[in-house]
Amino acid sequence: MLTHDLGRTEFGDPANQGNVISLDEANRLLDDWVKNESLKRHMRQVAALMKAWAREEEKLDETEQLKWEVAGLLHDADWDQWPDDHCRRIIEELERRNIDPEIIQAIASHGPRFFGVDPVTPMDKMLYAFDELSGIIHAYSLMRPTGYEGMDVKGVRKRLKDKAFAAQVSREDIADAAQRAGRELDELIAFAIQHQSAIN
Ligand SMILES: [Fe+2]
Repeated sequence: MLTHDLGRTEFGDPANQGNVISLDEANRLLDDWVKNESLKRHMRQVAALMKAWAREEEKLDETEQLKWEVAGLLHDADWDQWPDDHCRRIIEELERRNIDPEIIQAIASHGPRFFGVDPVTPMDKMLYAFDELSGIIHAYSLMRPTGYEGMDVKGVRKRLKDKAFAAQVSREDIADAAQRAGRELDELIAFAIQHQSAIN
């Protein structure tokens, strides 16, 4: 059963292509909507991963990097206040603001099991791939005496195998997302450790 089925697979208006929300505007929206600081940090971490991936792996220009970054920054913006309406609220808000459909599409497809929307573009796929992975890596950092310092792929792999650790994080989604992205999970873990550690 899809708990948050969006009931559609097309988002935004193609006429708004190139209309990227600014970082300032995105951060204002987060400040308005999200009171939970750890949720904000989660979105900032995913944003940092998305931007770094766009730059380093996809070799995209700065405008494209910004699209990836704001998709990460806003993907859970409605979770704090409207968990039952998760994803629908932020999508409708971005549509109302005439934001680039690629950004809205990526947000809409970050949980195919919940929203009923498959990730299609590289941006969609990486948002799905980094979302849960980033969360479990951060949870792991909190239980390590040295935080992110000295963290390695092997340690994260162990936490993934330990089903009792961060039990709410779906291991199936993490594996499914890596497969859809066409990347080795170890590569994604190493990238995430490297690029989210500085974001608090
Ligand atoms: Fe998330």
